[in-house]
Formats: sequence, structure tokens, C-alpha cells
Amino acid sequence: MFNKLRLWKNQNNSSTLRDKIEAIKKLPVPEHVAIIMDGNGRWAKKRALPRIAGHHEGMKVVRKTTMLANDLGVKTLTLYAFSTENWKRPKNEVEYIMKLPEEFLGTFLPELVENNVQVKMMGYKDQLPVHTLHAIEKAMEETKHNNGLVLNFALNYGSRAEIIDAVKQVLNDSKSGILKENELDEQVFSSYLMTSEFADPDLLIRTSGEIRLSNFMLWQLAYSEFWFTDVLWPDFSEEHLLEAIEVFQKRQRRFGGIL
Ligand code: FPP
Repeated sequence: MFNKLRLWKNQNNSSTLRDKIEAIKKLPVPEHVAIIMDGNGRWAKKRALPRIAGHHEGMKVVRKTTMLANDLGVKTLTLYAFSTENWKRPKNEVEYIMKLPEEFLGTFLPELVENNVQVKMMGYKDQLPVHTLHAIEKAMEETKHNNGLVLNFALNYGSRAEIIDAVKQVLNDSKSGILKENELDEQVFSSYLMTSEFADPDLLIRTSGEIRLSNFMLWQLAYSEFWFTDVLWPDFSEEHLLEAIEVFQKRQRRFGGIL
């Protein structure tokens, strides 16, 4: 398994990382990890670089995080890459972010395929540039038979809009008799959301010191464990992901009940 993972090659601390990974794997690992990747702009600013340099660095961290999550046995990794509100950003920044999926998948798709990763996307596809959507759909097609980690990009995703759309669909199905009022429960409602095929996240990570959800998976995160760090996304390392999971493994999840 390890020889497949190039990420630790030539790293002096690789044995420490491997020990940590092995220890973590002995305990239940979160099945679904969701990450709000924040702080790219500040990372760039600190270095007097343009904001897009931060996004580019952030893309490399997506690769490292994906490979490690896959090795740990995480089933789904959802990454908040672009929100329905992010269109308010300067045009050049939006255009740059919209090119990142092509660059990322153009570079790393063979590695994702080799490591059995399945690429998925949730969000409003209609507003995405054709080139962005094309790159993602190609990756989805090429990885659709993989059964390792699901790498789910939240792109042009907004949770409130998702919930409103689900409510509209419920109303339509109710009107047409497909769904009866007494059949609607939390599980059924979840099936109307963009995440219908996934379990709710067990662990939410947000980088950069901001303590908020920013319209991300509001329904799905109801009982997730949260882990916030001041580390800016481009500085997020394997050690940080392992730390988040170690903390998760020490939490007692009660889901409103008692132990
Ligand atoms: C938030 O940081 C980050 C984003 C809106 C973009 C996130 C995108 C990536 C990490 C790259 C994604 C890669 C692929 C393959 C899709 P910010 O810009 O708000 O940072 P700031 O708060 O410091 O300004």
C-alpha cells in the first residue's frame, strides 16, 4: 500500500507519519470528511503574491489530502472549492479558480485512477464554464468504476439553495402523488439533496481560523464533529489531517442521546 503513495518519498519524517497512520487506522476512521478549504488569499498576501498563487498552492494540498484520506480508508472526502456566493469575487480570480479543476485533473487524474479514487461533484453545473464541467465530467467518467475514496468537489455549491430546491421537488412530488405527506421524514428529505448518495459527514474541517459554515452542508452537518484550525489551507499538511482525525477519534458522539 505505502509504495503506491509517493507523497512520503524522500521525507525524513516518513516513519513518524507512517506510525501515526497505522495507529489511527486501528480505531474507527471518519467515513466522510468534509473540508472548507479557507485561507488561500491570506497565504498569498503574506508572501506579497497575487491571490491566485494561493489557490494554486491550495490545489497541491488537495492532492496530498486526497492521497492520505484514501490511504486512511476514508470513504468520502468532500471539498468546498467554490460556493454559489464566490461569483462575487474579482473576475480574474473566478476565472482562475474555474481553471483549477482542469489543471488538477490534467495533472493528477492518472494518479487518482491508479489509487482507485472516484471523482464526483456536487453543485449547480449549469453556471459552470464548459471547460470546467468538461474536465470534471471526464474525470467522473474515467473513475466511475473505482471503489476507493470518493473525492467529491463542491463546486458552485450553496446549501440554502440546495435545501430550497429540495423543498420545491418535495412539493412537486407531493402534488403529483409520488410522495405522501406522512412519508416525508429526515431520511426521505435527505434523498432530495445533492448529497443523496453519501452518508452525512462525520468530520468537518475548516482551515484559516474562521469559525463559520459559510453556507456549506447545513442540513448534512447537523451531527458532525467540527475541527477548526488557524492553519491556512496552503499550509495544511498530512500532519494536520492526522491531528484532526486523532481529535475526532477521542470525541464521544452521542447524537442527542446519552452514553
Ligand atoms: C477560500 O480561500 C478558497 C476558495 C474559495 C477556493 C478554494 C480552492 C482551492 C483550494 C483549489 C481547489 C482545487 C481544485 C482542484 C478545484 P480564500 O480565497 O477565501 O482565502 P482568504 O479568506 O484568505 O482570502
